Amino acid sequence: DTPRILVTGGAGYIGSHTAKLLRLEGLEPVTYDNLTTGNRSSVRWGPFIEGDILDSAHLIEVIEHYAPDAVIHFAASAYVGESVADPAKYYHNNVCGTLSLLDACRRTGLGKVIFSSSCATYGVPAALPIDEATRQEPINPYGRTKLIAERMLSDYAAAFGLSYVALRYFNACGADPEGDLGEWHDPETHLIPRALMAAAGRIGKLEVFGDDYDTADGTCVRDYIHVADLAQAHVLAYRLLAEGGANLALNLGSGRGFSVREVLSAVGAVTGRDVPVAIRPRRAGDPPVLYADARLAREVLGFSPLYSDLETIVRTAAPFFGLEAR
Ligand code: UFG
Repeated sequence: DTPRILVTGGAGYIGSHTAKLLRLEGLEPVTYDNLTTGNRSSVRWGPFIEGDILDSAHLIEVIEHYAPDAVIHFAASAYVGESVADPAKYYHNNVCGTLSLLDACRRTGLGKVIFSSSCATYGVPAALPIDEATRQEPINPYGRTKLIAERMLSDYAAAFGLSYVALRYFNACGADPEGDLGEWHDPETHLIPRALMAAAGRIGKLEVFGDDYDTADGTCVRDYIHVADLAQAHVLAYRLLAEGGANLALNLGSGRGFSVREVLSAVGAVTGRDVPVAIRPRRAGDPPVLYADARLAREVLGFSPLYSDLETIVRTAAPFFGLEAR
């Protein structure tokens, strides 16, 4: 009897990588996605249902039909800049969408939820590294919508007996080490894919958003975590819920911070290409330094990142931009 997992947003970047690993681990991913940002061709490891999480009646039908043991809820809008320009979209998709899903879970008795949260819920942290007890004071609508969804989960858990794990991703990056899936955002705003596009000559210069931060080389520092490692954490979170544990939030990071310049050097070293750069002003809403205290996920889940060194990250991502790793 293969356990089934409903995967909202399973046609997206992190969702599709997770669906592949679920299948390899003997679980059946059932993808529910409206394909506004996901790709139908990324759904290859289980059934696909086209639908919107705001459509609670459709969700209830799908849950009753497939009787999943848990849901992994990736479906969301995820551009910080866009969330400032169009907060309505973010409150609808991320807050109302999550509420719609939780209500469908409640109606059908689906009691286990794994949720995609973000380090964006911390805002500019008072201290580093960022542990899970750090005050969550998001500085943009995207981060606020993820925080509200976390609060909904804990309130539903207390009142209705739902159990959940909220996973706070740091900077997701890299691609399937076997080459089956890559990172396909449109528009692409993330540093590593843009650096690879610049190295491949597809977009002029890579714009570095600020080199006057109070960091070692003046550029922002982030904690880059490989998407295949994120996938592993979701499988482990499901196992924890299946054993009756949880109702907690966990950081998913490598625990190490790298500056924009360090990332660009890694892209240059792995691809053998120069990354042409142009220094630009700071990007609004960018915290200077973010990196995780990543110990809790190790302790609670046994999470152990295998791919989250910069070289492996760039090596797995490069082929999707027509570049060979050296
Ligand atoms: N950067 C550049 N040039 C670019 C793109 C990015 O210099 O062309 C810099 C950014 O200023 C930032 C770093 O590279 O300092 C990483 O930027 P990304 O856009 O790749 O990632 P973010 O850290 O902004 O965003 C990520 C997730 C969000 C999440 C956020 C939390 O993608 O979903 O972390 O801070 F909300």
